[in-house]
Amino acid sequence: MKNLVIAVDGPAGAGKSTIAKIVAKKLNINYIDTGAMYRAITYKCLKNDIDVDNEEEVKKVAKDTDIDFRDNNIYLDGAIINDEIRTIDVSNNVSNVAKIKEVRYLMVDVQREIGKKSSVILDGRDIGSYVFPNADYKFYLVATPHERGARRHKELTEKGYEVSIEEIINDIIKRDEIDSNREFAPLVKAEDAIEVDTTGKTIEDVVESVLGKINL
Ligand code: CDP
Repeated sequence: MKNLVIAVDGPAGAGKSTIAKIVAKKLNINYIDTGAMYRAITYKCLKNDIDVDNEEEVKKVAKDTDIDFRDNNIYLDGAIINDEIRTIDVSNNVSNVAKIKEVRYLMVDVQREIGKKSSVILDGRDIGSYVFPNADYKFYLVATPHERGARRHKELTEKGYEVSIEEIINDIIKRDEIDSNREFAPLVKAEDAIEVDTTGKTIEDVVESVLGKINL
């Protein structure tokens, strides 16, 4: 049987990863958080004092990095970095790393390889528009900036991070702007993607509307 590819795109904090994780479990397929890959490169740069605006240096880091997903963990050069990549510091810098074309080429290669080998749901910004233009299903999740900020704030404070809601909303708005305006593979709704507005909806509601569109 052909591998199934499901793309879930949308702006920061629209609930993509929460929904994609649950859908992956229900359908018993793999889940790839492509944002985590860009975050991992960003984390490595920050840790090694590399200026994320120095494209040449960032490209070198990306080339020299091994990223892997296993058992719901993300590995950076062999070490689990699930929590380290969620800090506001990484969030504030990741869009500058993700706009570098060569970095994207490297990440996209890994994503396409995974899609070749197994059925998978991927969440990101350019999955339906660029990485898998022939995906079987494409979803584009949106919500108001305020709701996205409030959700992310809850998530981070539950993990023990001290960060204000204003700071998070600012980060989200800034990242959306950089992600939407970059030259190569920007954040965009693919023409054939199904838009789901998650504002005011529960996780269960959104999962139900996504699963309702998938016929296996
Ligand atoms: O979870 P959240 O919506 O905050 O973001 P994320 O999915 O972890 O992605 C972090 C950042 O990585 C985004 O703001 C983009 O700059 C970049 N990204 C990208 O360029 N392309 C992707 N396919 C996924 C993420």
